Amino acid sequence: MDKILIFDTTLRDGEQSPGASLTPEQKLSIAEQLARLNVDIIEAGYPASSPGEIEAIREICKKVKKPIIAGLARTLRKDIDCCLKALDKTNKPRLHIFCATSEIHLKYKLKKAKEEILRLTVESIRYARRFIDDIEFSPEDATRTDFNFLVEVVQAAIAAGATTINIPDTVGCIFPSQFTKLIKDLRQQISFKDVNLSVHCHNDLGLAVANSLTAVEEGANQVECTVNGIGERAGNASLEEVAMNIKLHPEIFRREMNIKTEELFKVSRLVSHLTGIPVQPNKAIVGSNAFAHEAGIHQDGILKKRTTYEIINPKDVGVKESRLVLGKHSGSHALEEHLKRMGYHLTKKEFAKFFIHFKQIADKKKEVFDEDLEIILDEVKKRIPQIWQLEYIHISSGNKTVPTATIRLKRGEEILEDSACGDGPIDACYKAIERITGLKGKLLDYSLQAITSGKDALGEVSIKVRFKDEIITARGASTDIIEASAKAYLEAVNRQAAGRKNKE
Ligand code: KIV
Ligand code: ZN
Repeated sequence: MDKILIFDTTLRDGEQSPGASLTPEQKLSIAEQLARLNVDIIEAGYPASSPGEIEAIREICKKVKKPIIAGLARTLRKDIDCCLKALDKTNKPRLHIFCATSEIHLKYKLKKAKEEILRLTVESIRYARRFIDDIEFSPEDATRTDFNFLVEVVQAAIAAGATTINIPDTVGCIFPSQFTKLIKDLRQQISFKDVNLSVHCHNDLGLAVANSLTAVEEGANQVECTVNGIGERAGNASLEEVAMNIKLHPEIFRREMNIKTEELFKVSRLVSHLTGIPVQPNKAIVGSNAFAHEAGIHQDGILKKRTTYEIINPKDVGVKESRLVLGKHSGSHALEEHLKRMGYHLTKKEFAKFFIHFKQIADKKKEVFDEDLEIILDEVKKRIPQIWQLEYIHISSGNKTVPTATIRLKRGEEILEDSACGDGPIDACYKAIERITGLKGKLLDYSLQAITSGKDALGEVSIKVRFKDEIITARGASTDIIEASAKAYLEAVNRQAAGRKNKE
């Protein structure tokens, strides 16, 4: 059974992404990871572009031995010679020659007649065959090329010695049903016996993967793609999407591929890190949300049976596990499971209280993290004495007003409220708390830090307060820093009051 070959061009077409140039060392580490992923062919670059590119490809050839290493060339002897130099250290070299064939490219870009294109194609392939057996030919802009001329060029390329014919949708303009027809018609007109039929699709209309797969369904046996789908303009077909479709649809593709899909996530992150091109969170297969579930109904389903909402096992692409995002849409089932995983087992009553606090925080924040949960637990599990509880806080402050705080506290069933002015809103809060509780403290130290990420992060205030001759450390957290400061002071007051109570 024929295999489907995966030709990775991250280091050539991918590197043509605006702003994505890579150093030789970076190219080598990506090539090494592509070899671990077990791609069949690595297109390592375009050697004629610079002497540095030749050296980078030579290094890859010296160190990466399993895949075929390809270099790109125009139909020019100088390009082919650069390729030969770049590839002289691999035992599996491939020369990839391309020449535009569409009318628009011939007329405006190359300013050449069809006969000239045919001559250049044949001569360059014959020349390259003197040195290398594995020759790929691409009629650039094939999908906008007159069909009869395309057949003529491809036949001439095969007769001259090309062993792979690649059909590029250079500007990403073709529709899947049209590409199916094109591949079918080409296979009817041309014998591809002992010649690989490859496709190379760009993503200008978001159809690169669909077009590549439809061509494979129609008999193509090589797909050119890039990690994370990077490449010229809107990029190329994304390798991870192509690979997972082939893996998950054996009934359609009926052939195997060599890709070790468990390496997909790692290579995706490496390419993103080294090129500086982020992976969009909702990107299929490798996006950070690809295995994240937020809605309560989905989380409940996942916890009961993963496959209710996941068609891919995250481990199959190298992701450790699915992620249940705790946010305002989360339900009690997911939250309870999460707490258990953190090692907390709450009684029914505690959990009910916890859930109310959780929803209050989730309404203020997009994602609730473990640190947020710990703080709710402090309150619910009464890990800190709760003699006084904060009920209400109102601040009036500005550059031309005297900062004033009104605070309402609860002690048992009793509600007490008072106001105070201060040097700033926090000082005003602390004075109002002192007036209500009757406990006078001196603030010795105050620090504020964000303890969770994002603009809506929880801020944690840590303070040291002296009450007579006792120094107490306390902290408070909230998405509002004044509230966090008041909570910290109240915790200090509660610890002091609890200590006194214990002594009495
Ligand atoms: O998009 C394209 O046509 C190419 C060729 C060089 C294969 O990248
Ligand atoms: Zn391309």
